[in-house]
Amino acid sequence: MSIAFAPLLLLAAAASPAPGPAGAADPAQVKRGEYLVRLGGCNDCHTPWKVDRALGVPAPDLTRRLSGHPADGPDPAGKYTPPDSAVIGPDFTSFALPFGTVYSSNLTPDPTGLGDWTEPQFAAAMRTGRHTGDPRARPILPPMPWMSLAHLTDADLAAIWAYLRSLPPIRNAVPPPKVPESALAKLEAALTSPRPP
Ligand code: HEC
Repeated sequence: MSIAFAPLLLLAAAASPAPGPAGAADPAQVKRGEYLVRLGGCNDCHTPWKVDRALGVPAPDLTRRLSGHPADGPDPAGKYTPPDSAVIGPDFTSFALPFGTVYSSNLTPDPTGLGDWTEPQFAAAMRTGRHTGDPRARPILPPMPWMSLAHLTDADLAAIWAYLRSLPPIRNAVPPPKVPESALAKLEAALTSPRPP
């Protein structure tokens, strides 16, 4: 009997409305979040850039707002060489650093982005510098300036989260960073050693 009902249950599940990314967001909170995201320069690294032909300068491509390094996007063409700090890829979302190559994350509420994250997880990631906010996870890698966001109030972090939730979801599976374990261990030591306030 349960087998006979299974397809019906599946149909019922498919018909029930998916929870909207914005949920019951407070418009004033979302607006505050947008303001903070502009101020925090999140678009500079999390939105792929393209050259604005009219101006002749690169600018974030807002049709791909905050969707991170494109899954099929290029690495920086140049190889990292000392004493540079980094070589940045053509759309400003890939960074070849002394320890490896890092890609900016998809911050939209798609499952390939922050779709499965919770607000406490986001706050924990920004406060602790741990990937996904999990205390056992690897450090969040430079150039993500999480240590600046760590100083925000709970209300401001919640506002940023509310704004990110209100974005149109964009499907884009950003590749994992190409950073060897030995380099991660060094970064781990840096994360756990005392830092100036
Ligand atoms: C200078 C470039 C830069 C700026 C500015 C920046 N980010 Fe990032 N961000 C990155 C990179 C690169 C990563 C990927 C780091 C990694 O893989 O560990 C990242 C990762 C993240 C992650 C995922 C962290 C995790 O646990 O994996 C979140 C969330 C995030 N950024 C939010 C923000 C927000 C919100 C802002 C603006 C207030 C912002 N970022 C500004 C470069 C930047």
